[in-house]
Amino acid sequence: MAKKGLVSPIYSLLFVAFLSINCHAADANERKVHIVYMGGRPKGEFSAATTHHSMLQGVLGSASSAKKSLIYSYLSFNGFAAKLTDEEVRRFSEMEGVIRVIPNHILKLHTTRSWDFIGFTNDNVGAKLEGDVVVGLLDTGIWPEHESFNSQELGAPPSKWKGTCQGANFTCNNKIIGGRYYNSEDWYDGEFKSPRDSEGHGTHTSSTAAGDRVPGASYYGLANGTARGGAPGARIAIYKVCWLFGCATADILAAFDDAIADGVDIISVSLGSDWPLAYDEDPIAIGAFHAMKYGILTSNSAGNSGPWPYSVSNYAPWTLTVAASTIDRKFVAKAVLGDGQVFTGISINSFELLGKSYPLAWGGDAANYSAGASQDLSRYCFTGFLNSYKVEGKIVYCETLWDGTGVLLANGVGTIMADDEITDFAFNYPLPATQISTSDGEKVLDYIRTTENPTATILLGETWTDYMAPYVVSFSSRGPNPITPDILKPDLTAPGVDIIAAWSPVAPPSIDWEDPRSVEYNIISGTSMSCPHASGAAAYVKAAHPEWSAAAIKSALMTTATVVDPKKHEDLEFAYGSGQINPAQAKDPGLVYDANETDYINFLCKQGYNTTTVRLITGDNSSVCTSTKPGPAWDLNYPSFSLAMEDGQPIYGVFTRTVTNVGSPTSTYTGFASTQPGFTIVVEPNILSFSALGEKKSFTVKVSGQKISQQPITSVNIIWKDSDNKYVVRSPVVVYNVLPTPYSPYYYTSQKKPTFQRPSMYHKNAILGRN
Ligand SMILES: *[C@@H]1O[C@H](CO)[C@@H](O)[C@H](O)[C@H]1NC(C)=O
Ligand SMILES: *[C@@H]1O[C@H](CO)[C@@H](O)[C@H](O)[C@H]1NC(C)=O
Ligand SMILES: *[C@@H]1O[C@H](CO)[C@@H](O)[C@H](O)[C@H]1NC(C)=O
Ligand SMILES: *[C@@H]1O[C@H](CO)[C@@H](O)[C@H](O)[C@H]1NC(C)=O
Ligand SMILES: *[C@@H]1O[C@H](CO)[C@@H](O)[C@H](O)[C@H]1NC(C)=O
Ligand SMILES: *[C@@H]1O[C@H](CO)[C@@H](O)[C@H](O)[C@H]1NC(C)=O
Repeated sequence: MAKKGLVSPIYSLLFVAFLSINCHAADANERKVHIVYMGGRPKGEFSAATTHHSMLQGVLGSASSAKKSLIYSYLSFNGFAAKLTDEEVRRFSEMEGVIRVIPNHILKLHTTRSWDFIGFTNDNVGAKLEGDVVVGLLDTGIWPEHESFNSQELGAPPSKWKGTCQGANFTCNNKIIGGRYYNSEDWYDGEFKSPRDSEGHGTHTSSTAAGDRVPGASYYGLANGTARGGAPGARIAIYKVCWLFGCATADILAAFDDAIADGVDIISVSLGSDWPLAYDEDPIAIGAFHAMKYGILTSNSAGNSGPWPYSVSNYAPWTLTVAASTIDRKFVAKAVLGDGQVFTGISINSFELLGKSYPLAWGGDAANYSAGASQDLSRYCFTGFLNSYKVEGKIVYCETLWDGTGVLLANGVGTIMADDEITDFAFNYPLPATQISTSDGEKVLDYIRTTENPTATILLGETWTDYMAPYVVSFSSRGPNPITPDILKPDLTAPGVDIIAAWSPVAPPSIDWEDPRSVEYNIISGTSMSCPHASGAAAYVKAAHPEWSAAAIKSALMTTATVVDPKKHEDLEFAYGSGQINPAQAKDPGLVYDANETDYINFLCKQGYNTTTVRLITGDNSSVCTSTKPGPAWDLNYPSFSLAMEDGQPIYGVFTRTVTNVGSPTSTYTGFASTQPGFTIVVEPNILSFSALGEKKSFTVKVSGQKISQQPITSVNIIWKDSDNKYVVRSPVVVYNVLPTPYSPYYYTSQKKPTFQRPSMYHKNAILGRN
């Protein structure tokens, strides 16, 4: 189960999250599923289950309650999932060795509509030099024969390309020009020993970044349209580092090494750690640093651990961190009862019942007592708890969101599930299914109880327009940055909800891992899906400006991002960063905030790293920290501004920045800052005149104001506009009170040493999950 939990976040969360429904008293004593993380597994012999059980017994008081509470002991890291009350959560949080206790949340994964929605229409794509750009993806592999990767229009790979295709039965073509696989654990659970994708995830992300245009792509007719990547003319190189068990850090580092040597231009990494790692222990931060030295931007998923603050992963300043937001299309499916009541639910329902009505039963009336179920369990229709005699041939009403296998395996026809937990993205199921609100659910139950022969049908899924879009989805990980409070993360947001893209024909087409059907395109959600949107956009910018540094491309994407409505997000930039990507505009940003290796080393030294630890990151013995004086990160030339204040301190920070002119050779920009009660922003000078391309000008931003306390976030924008009104270069400035968090071991104000053993990337068992 734990192993399965790593298969796909969407999947694991379904399993973990929904097991909590057994207890339903709504108070602090309610036991909710939490994951208790203790980092990497201790070396040598270690019985995780025994250790975790005795920890739980210590806190919960008895062996039997510990046994009841424990859901999983994870195999790939030292941690477990258990049902805990608020008080028990507090006690675990204070325990030596416990890194983090996080409540369960729902992750979700990944285009026919998404590029159009962000204003990047087909007319924009396919820059002349796009064929020279190679997007490297660290993922689950790719399905090389898929239509999305078989364009006949592409010529031979660019001459700089040094990559290769390895593994049996895996042939590259002019779209997929590289394929390698890595499995240091030597653990193949029936998977292809090649870059071929058996899970679907890597095929999906690759086609989103750089897939060909394929008309008539759909999921059983749903979302029918032309599927395409952000840079459909670019090449793909796949580095398979993720397997059913997860993505091993040793493999991730090896893949970065190869991708750089092969000559990729952009690296897309839709995976990450669920707990914060210092930069010198984070394989993605280290790999991305090496890539940055070669001008390669790494685009990362922010993680699917939202909406909790400090949940963002992949927060190194030399990488792009991408949150996930909605597009204006949502998937619904209607349930129609025998008495004519119609309830619209959330679901990607691929099944057509042709309007035929079936008997309707309540899971609570169909407990399989010999399986140990009672009404209190079977009402949720958990797998194995339904009596097939009672549900065979029927549509079953269930009181929670589940993957549908409970009803399917008991020979039910379909399921109407009532749940209010997840309402901003949809799942696809192995049988006709829809998810309605709990208040509608009460009406369904009432109908069942008051009707002699209740019946229902579920209609084929539909797509509706979501006028609220874009907004950042609940599961998208949020800032503040857990390690460097002065660097705003995530950097921006991109479509990551209900995204249709290519799929592996041998991967399940629904959240039921056993679903035997096969599809060419699948609809999934996650920051894993938003990340390759940003990678595709970065490839588009790179094609237009092959000589730009990683920081310049990143700056272009950030400063041109579309403003996201702050009223829809109480956590503001901690949800969406600089805004929603706008690739068409990013090609021509006017000014960029550039930075190089030296700048990042100076940043690290100020964060408390020394020559030894900096070399762990740079991989370069010649890197030195000239000054070890710790200080804030205010002078790293970052395209956004973050001012983390300790509680009760007056607001004060002075940032220095340098912009490089990449717009019109002769131009004059004026700087503006929006206003916000409580603090003042002074930009100096506020006029920058350029007389050549590549010319650099510096300015300072002084932020000052009254004392603030318990301020989760407040923000303004600094905007540079040129006198021709051609360019708008926007950067958010956020001010907030930083919590004394254990995740900021190097933060200069809290002189605390970390009290936990961080998992080491050098430990063979350190496994990361995909996002
Ligand atoms: C190669 O892979 C394809 C796609 O899975 C499969 O149809 C074919 O049988 C495989 N050939 C070999 C020799 O494994
Ligand atoms: C998708 O749309 C195209 C063009 O409108 C149509 O020809 C095709 O049959 C549709 N495919 C499905 C599966 O509905
Ligand atoms: C009840 O559960 C048991 C044990 O899982 C299973 O063998 C049996 O087939 C189930 N009975 C029905 C009627 O579904
Ligand atoms: C990096 O940029 C700085 C200016 O910010 C410059 O002084 C330095 O020489 C550059 N270093 C390298 C290695 O290019
Ligand atoms: C550098 O920092 C590490 C970790 O904080 C520490 O163990 C090491 O002793 C330091 N090295 C030097 C030369 O100060
Ligand atoms: C880098 O440091 C390592 C460890 O101290 C040493 O073995 C190696 O020779 C050094 N390389 C260079 C080029 O100085």
